[in-house]
Amino acid sequence: MKKLLMGTNLKMYKTPAQTESYLCALQSLTEDLRNDVTLFVIPSYPALDRAVNTVRDKAILLGAQNMHPEEQGQFTGEVSPLMLKELGLDIVEIGHSERRHVFHETDAEENKKVLSALAHGFTALLCVGETAEQKAYGIADEVLSMQLKIGLNGVTKTQLSRLWVAYEPVWAIGVNGTPASQQYAKERHLHIKAVLEMLFPGNEVPVLYGGSVNPDNARDLIVQNGIDGLFTGRAAWEAENFNKLIRQVLPLYKGRA
Ligand code: 13P
Repeated sequence: MKKLLMGTNLKMYKTPAQTESYLCALQSLTEDLRNDVTLFVIPSYPALDRAVNTVRDKAILLGAQNMHPEEQGQFTGEVSPLMLKELGLDIVEIGHSERRHVFHETDAEENKKVLSALAHGFTALLCVGETAEQKAYGIADEVLSMQLKIGLNGVTKTQLSRLWVAYEPVWAIGVNGTPASQQYAKERHLHIKAVLEMLFPGNEVPVLYGGSVNPDNARDLIVQNGIDGLFTGRAAWEAENFNKLIRQVLPLYKGRA
């Protein structure tokens, strides 16, 4: 069985010093879980250098929350793959709902970022998810298909081992979000898996669930076969809480058929 994937996106929280103490604590709390869990943390840009120097032996994989697809250029305020590569990062998160809906990034832009991240040797974590309005119209699966088909256009077979997908329904994310029900999440994950199978037959791309994951719903989600891990925000931002959450779901994941 594949290792359980558990990660958190720190969004615009935690200064470099706070990120360092968080990672130190998380690293020591989870030391015995290395063989069972792939743990990853996605800090803010200014905290990345310190984060890389805090984590030992890749005990926690580290990623960036966004990336410009070009290596360099006149793009004030943007960060390039070469800059992230030099830091020694593992992952680039692409198309988080806040990037899509607060900063209006398009599927075509996410696609350029995915291709660039993969070409530069990163694991690309593409986030997909429908809005509340799209859900109400009953077009969640159509939206997911589109985000995957455009976002992953041009990805090659050899790159698939460095591709992760996160299903994060927009309406489920953040303080005002409502977590997806077990049934709803299961159906969307099966749909995402079917689209991935159509695009890349035989692939083993993991699909994580994110959006108000917490100690009350994490178990219900991780028992679903189509859910390969959890991508958590608020509930993981205290190292002790994240450690507890991981230990809560790990036995259920291991017990899956
Ligand atoms: P919350 O768990 O705080 O809803 O955030 C999820 C998320 O956005 C992970 O990328």
